[in-house]
Amino acid sequence: MRGIVEKLDLDGMGIVKVENREFHVPFTAPGDEVEVKKWRRKKRRLIVTDFEVVEESDIRVPPECPYFGRCGGCALQHIPYSEQLRLKSEKLSKYLDMEVEVLPSPRIYGHRNRIDVVLSTGGIGFRRRGTWWDAVDIEWCPVFGESSKKVLKSLREFMGDFKPSLYNIRENSGFLRYIVIREGKFMGELMVNLVTSEGQLPEEFPDYFDYATSIYWSVNRTKSDVSYGDIERFWGSEFIRERLDDVVYLIHPNSFFQTNSYGAVNLVKKVAELVEGERILDLYSGVGTFGIYLAKRGFSVEGVEINPFAVEMARKNADLNGVDAVFRVGEDRDVENLATYDTIVLDPPRAGLHPKLVRKILKEQPKTVVYVSCNPATLGGNLKKLLEKYEVETALGLDMFPHTLHVEAILKLNLKV
Ligand SMILES: C[S@@+](CC[C@H](N)C(=O)[O-])C[C@H]1O[C@@H](n2cnc3c(N)ncnc32)[C@H](O)[C@@H]1O
Repeated sequence: MRGIVEKLDLDGMGIVKVENREFHVPFTAPGDEVEVKKWRRKKRRLIVTDFEVVEESDIRVPPECPYFGRCGGCALQHIPYSEQLRLKSEKLSKYLDMEVEVLPSPRIYGHRNRIDVVLSTGGIGFRRRGTWWDAVDIEWCPVFGESSKKVLKSLREFMGDFKPSLYNIRENSGFLRYIVIREGKFMGELMVNLVTSEGQLPEEFPDYFDYATSIYWSVNRTKSDVSYGDIERFWGSEFIRERLDDVVYLIHPNSFFQTNSYGAVNLVKKVAELVEGERILDLYSGVGTFGIYLAKRGFSVEGVEINPFAVEMARKNADLNGVDAVFRVGEDRDVENLATYDTIVLDPPRAGLHPKLVRKILKEQPKTVVYVSCNPATLGGNLKKLLEKYEVETALGLDMFPHTLHVEAILKLNLKV
């Protein structure tokens, strides 16, 4: 059966109405004429799994990636960037119940500073859309940039010479599992982290990547399909460095860093613009991304974070930048004396704020809250509660993840008078 895509849903799939039924079709654009062949019901929606685009819409733009449409990484490369931003704005506006503009990413290709490439019997690349077992073979990733080509070519040469086995996820067998490539875009430093099962890595492995700043070998001894493990060895530098504006951060294979370096510059600048007063609490501080940037601008910063390794990294980052921001291990719900800070900066994981923290904020009433979020749904839920005592001064989206439906948001909330 055939139909025309009317618009995209908030997951980036085209909506086609045929015979009173609404189908959601991936990788299509408004105006496409689509032949729907197979579908499955998922959470009360009909998701099309087999289809043909009979006539392409005029609004389509050519994707830069040769694997687009099969690879699970990007959903929207065929949609003009202005329309991608409009969709993200629609998504944020829906969850926050107000108009929210989304600022573009300064680059929409070559912006990602990290990719986790699956090494599997199914292929060397990214997971095929809709599967957890299969992978699309890639030679490079345009969203990461040229150096992915170099690393994957070196890896294939190493594999050609030494014939190590690839991981079979169904059987939990095989040696090579992931190669994680990270790049400090502003510093030009490259990290390669090979993640394997237990086994022997040929001594010659690092010789194949002699252009990288840092080469790691990590071992994942579990069945979990994760791209990190216990660090077995490293060659070259222990860390690579990335610079956001005038602050330099260290990156380690087992530490988080904002994945779009260009967008992250805008993010830290925006947070610095929104905070008030002198004393700042950076809660969920991670490796100190916001805290150190703020300390460099003269704010007095205390960071709290649950992960001891991230705190260690934040302290190293503070030393590296010559600032005296204080970072400690702690949990969101246990933070005391919120009102002694002029501004609290919150950047929680996708689950949002702990309910106890929300109650504490409402009770102790710090004057200004700057809330950074990568999940509009939990942000919207937390905001509803905070509006009891706070009003929104600024609500803004930032596109950190071009070609996907993910969007980062920043809210500035002021205590009502
Ligand atoms: C979205 S990341 C933000 C990291 C940091 N702001 C950055 O940009 O590098 C969320 C952080 O919250 C931390 N976290 C998760 N649960 C927490 C909790 N209950 N209390 C404190 N920190 C927590 C995670 O370890 C992670 O570093």
